[in-house]
Parts: sequence; C-alpha cells; structure tokens
Amino acid sequence: MSDLLRELNQVRRDGLPETIRKRTKAKVIAIVSANGGVGKSTIAAGLAKTLRHPGGRVIAIDLDPQNALSSHLGITRPAPGLIQLKEQDADWGAHRLPGFSDSECLPFGTGELNDRRLLRQMLLEDADWLSQHLASMHLSENDTVILDTPSGATVYSQQALDAADLVLVMTVADAASYLALDTMTQWLETSPRRAQQQRYVLNQWDDSRAFSRDMGVLFRRRLGANLIGTIRLDHQFNESLAYGRDLLQHAPESIGCQDILSLSGAVHALLFTDASSQQGTL
Ligand SMILES: Nc1ncnc2c1ncn2[C@@H]1O[C@H](COP(=O)(O)OP(=O)(O)OP(=O)(O)O)[C@@H](O)[C@H]1O
Ligand SMILES: [Mg+2]
Repeated sequence: MSDLLRELNQVRRDGLPETIRKRTKAKVIAIVSANGGVGKSTIAAGLAKTLRHPGGRVIAIDLDPQNALSSHLGITRPAPGLIQLKEQDADWGAHRLPGFSDSECLPFGTGELNDRRLLRQMLLEDADWLSQHLASMHLSENDTVILDTPSGATVYSQQALDAADLVLVMTVADAASYLALDTMTQWLETSPRRAQQQRYVLNQWDDSRAFSRDMGVLFRRRLGANLIGTIRLDHQFNESLAYGRDLLQHAPESIGCQDILSLSGAVHALLFTDASSQQGTL
C-alpha cells in the first residue's frame, strides 16, 4: 500500500504519466514559430496535401483564431470549428471537411469574443484538452494530424507542443527569426514529451539575394541536422491562395511544390521509420 500511496503522490505532483494518459495512435505534428507570417499555415496545408502513409489519412487542425488554414486547403464554406466543438464530448471526427488533394481539415471556426474567451479559459484549465480530443477521434497509427498554431508561446501552441510527436519550427532567413531562435529553444525545452522530435524548416529562402544566402549559411551552421527542410521563395504560394487553387495540381513543377514534396519526404521518414534511432533536440 505504501508503494501505491507514493505513486498517487507522484501523480499529484507530476500529472499522469504518458503511458496512463489516453493518447491518439496517429502521428501528431505541431507547426510553430516565434514570429508571425513565416509560412506556418502554408506549410501545414502543404504537408496535409502531400504527407500520406499507406492506409492512412491526414487531418489538418487549425488552432489559430485567425481561422485561415481551411482557405489554404480550398475550403470556403463556413463550418463549425473548434470554437463550437470545445466540449470534451463533441465529435471532432464528424466535423472534418474535405480539402485539396484528399486532405481533411478541422477549422478553428468563427465565434463571438466571448466564445474565444471561453475556449481560452478551458485550455488554461486543462493542459490535456487537445490530447484528449485527439484520442477520442479514434485515429489509426497510419494517420497523421497536423496542428497549425498562432505565432509565439500562446495557450494554443502550448497545447499543440504538449500533444506533438514532432514539432516543426518555421523560420525565415532574416535577422528577427535568427534572434528568436534562443527564445524558441527555451520554450521547446518546456515540452513534457520525452520522446518528442523537434526540427526546423527555413522558409521563403531567396537564393538570388546575397543577404538571404548569407543568412541561410548562418541558420545551417546554427541548426545543423535539425534543419530538415528549406522552402524557397515562390510567389506562386501567394497567388494560389488568392485564387483558391491547389498549387500541387496547378503548378506541380514549381519550386515551391518541389520543396514541399522534399520536406514531406523528410517528415515522413522521421515519423514512420524507427523513431527511437532518430530522437534529438537542439
Ligand atoms: N516560400 C514562400 N514563398 C513565397 N511566399 C510564401 C512562402 N511561404 C509562405 N508565403 C506567403 O507568406 C504569407 C504568410 O504565410 P502564412 O499565412 O502561411 O504564414 P503564417 O506563419 O501562418 O502566418 P500567421 O503567423 O499570421 O499565422 C502568405 O501570403 C503565403 O502565401
Ligand atoms: Mg497561419
């Protein structure tokens, strides 16, 4: 009995151990960044369209109150999102919307200020809110969940960080993003997931500009093998979003598409090959 009591006290101090908490079988990727506008939603949508494991589906979930991810996946009709489905018994599986290239999306949704306040409060009170919702979707080990987040260490990105098997930190080749790397590393260290992989992606890299090339060298030197992808500057991303097109179908030969496919291959290898030999953080 004394062992059991000791265990109970331990749980009270540290929360439930990972093995006892209900977790989804799906692979979960959180896309985060220190600065805004660096391409999180673009890359979340790009991976949702290209990252496919045999027998599996990809579900992109928007944790950003801007509610922009569904537009990146060609979904224009308003639909209920997390803000309407915040209660623990809400069925997230039934509210997934079909997006470009066989992707599925659960939007953040739109609501009144008070709805957003209530959701925020719920997340502050229950650090496991997202993990429990993901577990209740009954996904398989072949499925992938991609979490798009607002920039910075918000209550939304904290939930994503706690639920993720792989964290992808988006940066761009500029001074502000470089200076934010230390803050980002400190925040990532707060993740309670011991088996979590954390990697970086450099976006909007412009090899026609000497400054961008130099910044690219600095990022590569600093991040080493943790930099798993570079996406070059390609204005087709912006045009596709504006015209509601799927870049993958519309311009598959574009450099943006090629870079997304190559990132998708690297992410697939990290998630679906033996993860134990690849763990690593900065
Ligand atoms: N590699 C790229 N080349 C050119 N434009 C890009 C690239 N990646 C993203 N963009 C454009 O940059 C803008 C911002 O991208 P996006 O919305 O994905 O950033 P975000 O990090 O999600 O922003 P926020 O912090 O506001 O959520 C969009 O107009 C997008 O089309
Ligand atoms: Mg975004």
